Amino acid sequence: MGSFKVYVSMVSIFVLIAMLNSSSSYRYSSRYGSRSRYNYQPSLRKCLSNDILSTLQGTLCPRANPCKNGGTEQPSGRCVCTDEYTGPTCEEKVNPCKNGGIDLPSVGCVCTFDFTGSTCEERVNPCQNNGTLLSDGSCNCTVDFTGTLCEERVNPCQNNGTLLSDGSCNCTVDFTGTLCEERVNPCQNNGTLLPDGSCNCTVEFIGTLCEGRANPCQNNGTLLSDGSCNCTESFGGNSCGEARCENINYQECRSECGPDYIQVDSYCDGDDVCCN
Ligand SMILES: *[C@@H]1O[C@H](CO)[C@@H](O)[C@H](O)[C@H]1NC(C)=O
Ligand SMILES: *[C@@H]1O[C@H](CO)[C@@H](O)[C@H](O)[C@H]1NC(C)=O
Ligand SMILES: *[C@@H]1O[C@H](CO)[C@@H](O)[C@H](O)[C@H]1NC(C)=O
Ligand SMILES: *[C@@H]1O[C@H](CO)[C@@H](O)[C@H](O)[C@H]1NC(C)=O
Ligand SMILES: *[C@@H]1O[C@H](CO)[C@@H](O)[C@H](O)[C@H]1NC(C)=O
Ligand SMILES: *[C@@H]1O[C@H](CO)[C@@H](O)[C@H](O)[C@H]1NC(C)=O
Ligand SMILES: *[C@@H]1O[C@H](CO)[C@@H](O)[C@H](O)[C@H]1NC(C)=O
Ligand SMILES: *[C@@H]1O[C@H](CO)[C@@H](O)[C@H](O)[C@H]1NC(C)=O
Repeated sequence: MGSFKVYVSMVSIFVLIAMLNSSSSYRYSSRYGSRSRYNYQPSLRKCLSNDILSTLQGTLCPRANPCKNGGTEQPSGRCVCTDEYTGPTCEEKVNPCKNGGIDLPSVGCVCTFDFTGSTCEERVNPCQNNGTLLSDGSCNCTVDFTGTLCEERVNPCQNNGTLLSDGSCNCTVDFTGTLCEERVNPCQNNGTLLPDGSCNCTVEFIGTLCEGRANPCQNNGTLLSDGSCNCTESFGGNSCGEARCENINYQECRSECGPDYIQVDSYCDGDDVCCN
């Protein structure tokens, strides 16, 4: 401020000079931004040549470097600061901490929650389980994980199986296989499971789950506990499926039919054949 006063005094000198009322003009500009037009005697023009003017100015108001912290002043008056400082007069220390980090003396950068690194230059990866952070801030998860932060393991178990901590599947009672991909066959006795969930039983079994033995005995034969059939009089064979050779239409059981008879396909006990 003191130098400013001196400077103002100097301006007063020029005002006096201006009062000499010359037709010539001298345009003076200062780094303080004021621009004034003063008239002065032509005879003084020589005296007030730029050299003398600057000498006079330098004498009356020696200019301190307005640029602080090693900044250099440009002829225009602007300051060119070192890397560590900024502001019109380099008065402000540049914060070395990026992304909103706070520079604490003898501590360094204290970063916000989202950043890390000595100058908080590195974004903290919020993605868990090796997920990568994408530029839009979202996570690109590995195939095994899902969720906003890849926090959730993808359940590979099918059909409502639950994933156990060891990575294996705990299947529901209806499914089996490493990934519970296979429906447990509820059909007993080699019955096959149809897509609609019902059982296709073998001929020997019946019931929803093929749990009952089918009666193989035809024609009202009864199933005995040993699995064999007790046929009615008119039928024979393992399943009572063969009509018994009866003494009708001249049919009869013989050890062999001989030339006078032809063999017909009806049941006889033992090794006998039915002849007609
Ligand atoms: C992440 O990757 C490392 C190195 O490839 C691997 O050892 C680790 O098991 C992975 N973690 C998960 C959860 O996949
Ligand atoms: C996500 O990661 C996968 C596997 O590394 C890669 O193929 C895919 O391009 C990535 N997606 C994006 C959007 O970066
Ligand atoms: C899985 O569970 C859901 C909900 O309990 C049920 O609606 C669905 O039928 C189940 N799926 C299988 C394959 O069991
Ligand atoms: C698997 O699931 C069943 C039924 O929910 C449960 O009782 C059992 O404890 C589970 N097993 C394990 C190892 O978690
Ligand atoms: C089921 O099939 C197997 C193989 O064909 C056979 O050995 C077994 O006796 C059958 N079981 C029944 C109850 O039919
Ligand atoms: C049931 O099994 C039998 C014998 O294997 C087969 O011929 C038949 O087509 C099956 N029925 C259905 C509905 O699959
Ligand atoms: C089986 O028995 C039923 C009732 O007793 C009778 O109506 C039917 O005719 C019999 N079938 C044969 C093939 O004998
Ligand atoms: C077979 O059926 C007949 C007639 O009903 C009966 O008399 C006989 O005792 C039965 N045989 C056996 C082994 O059950």
